[in-house]
Amino acid sequence: MRIMVINGPNLNLLGQREPGVYGHQTLAWIEDHLRGLGAGLGLEVECRQSNHEGELVDLVQRAGRECQGVVLNAGAYTHTSIALRDAVAGIATPVVEVHLSNPAAREPFRHVSYLSGVCAGCISGFGWQSYALALLWFARRTEGGPGPVVAEGQRI
Ligand code: DQA
Repeated sequence: MRIMVINGPNLNLLGQREPGVYGHQTLAWIEDHLRGLGAGLGLEVECRQSNHEGELVDLVQRAGRECQGVVLNAGAYTHTSIALRDAVAGIATPVVEVHLSNPAAREPFRHVSYLSGVCAGCISGFGWQSYALALLWFARRTEGGPGPVVAEGQRI
């Protein structure tokens, strides 16, 4: 099962960008961990990042053709992009919206998500582990059993 993890604008700066809000981990570190966690769960994890709305639309469309799941942190486009919402609505592949921070506990303009209504669900507020939890959902969903099998040594 192939999962695309898509990160939007400014998330390439994780580690240096407002670490009090987003944590100290870099995007490269998070992506490495997700690939490792995914391998332990039987998921092939492809990670992509773009600062550009149209590129994110292209990535969602490609994931719709090539992947069985999408983990999407659209950054600020979460709160502004009808184009991205339409892209998510336009694919059959389930999309989980994730955020490192908890937008509901932040400024009012972050309380609206254009994506939530077309996503399978939303996981926010758990730092990099928001992504890990989304992967666990995909793994469990396909196993249909009591819970995901996590490889020894994997941190969740
Ligand atoms: C974010 C929350 C957004 O409001 C913000 O614009 C981001 C990051 C998060 O992961 O917490 O860029 O998506």
